[in-house]
Amino acid sequence: MYCAGIIFNLSSIMFITFEGIDLSGKSTQIKLLENYYKKRKKKVITVREPGGTMISEKIRDIILDREHLNMSFLTEFMLFSSSRSQLVNEVILPYLKRSYIVLCDRFFDSSTAYQGYGGGIDLKIINSINKTAAQGLMPDKTFLIHISIEESLRRKKLMGKSSDRIEQKKISYYRKVIKGYLEISEKNKKRFTVIDGNKSVIEIHKEIIQSLSRLK
Ligand code: ADP
Ligand code: TYD
Repeated sequence: MYCAGIIFNLSSIMFITFEGIDLSGKSTQIKLLENYYKKRKKKVITVREPGGTMISEKIRDIILDREHLNMSFLTEFMLFSSSRSQLVNEVILPYLKRSYIVLCDRFFDSSTAYQGYGGGIDLKIINSINKTAAQGLMPDKTFLIHISIEESLRRKKLMGKSSDRIEQKKISYYRKVIKGYLEISEKNKKRFTVIDGNKSVIEIHKEIIQSLSRLK
């Protein structure tokens, strides 16, 4: 694993991130993978973005507050980055140093997709701040669970879920986010595995395990 010039003495995959639009099935798969590792007596921890520390959870509340309708994409991006920086410092790096497998529900690729491709912030700026906030930490493996916006809305209706501020954005915005995710995965082919999120929960879980076992 590589972080800001330090190569940790670890051969296996330790830092795994999950990406995709809302309701693509990230949490479902993370839970299954966490249980898979726990059954095998591996040290594993799951974190989510935005959030995961006391400070980051407070930032999360500001970002997702439905009253903050006039929040600009740049403010959003800065807040997500602050939340991430705290999470990396306080949780992710310390656990990686203790040889835990860290599963992360979203990481900087979310900012690239949502605030970069979706919000139109210059990708050079996004990439530079992403690197800074993550302190050079790069996921060993990223799973992009790909579903359409129509499928996301279908699941939302099934769940009877209300929208947070970000989820209230227009469908055209989500189309840009999805296109962005696919472009990011094309540019980072080695790190990314794109998974068809319309497959069954178990099929997806098996694909994830297979993909991780190929990397060991
Ligand atoms: P996310 O964490 O990406 O928002 P969740 O894992 O919470 O997504 O899943 C959102 C909803 O979609 C839940 O109701 C979940 O049961 C359902 N779901 C998850 N994976 C699948 C799947 N492969 N096929 C159909 N529904 C799914
Ligand atoms: P959350 O309720 O955690 O959504 P999900 O369960 O789908 O992950 O809310 C996080 C929202 O914030 C989600 O709509 C994605 C968005 N987001 C960004 O726009 N940029 C980011 O950098 C991150 C981490 C999340």
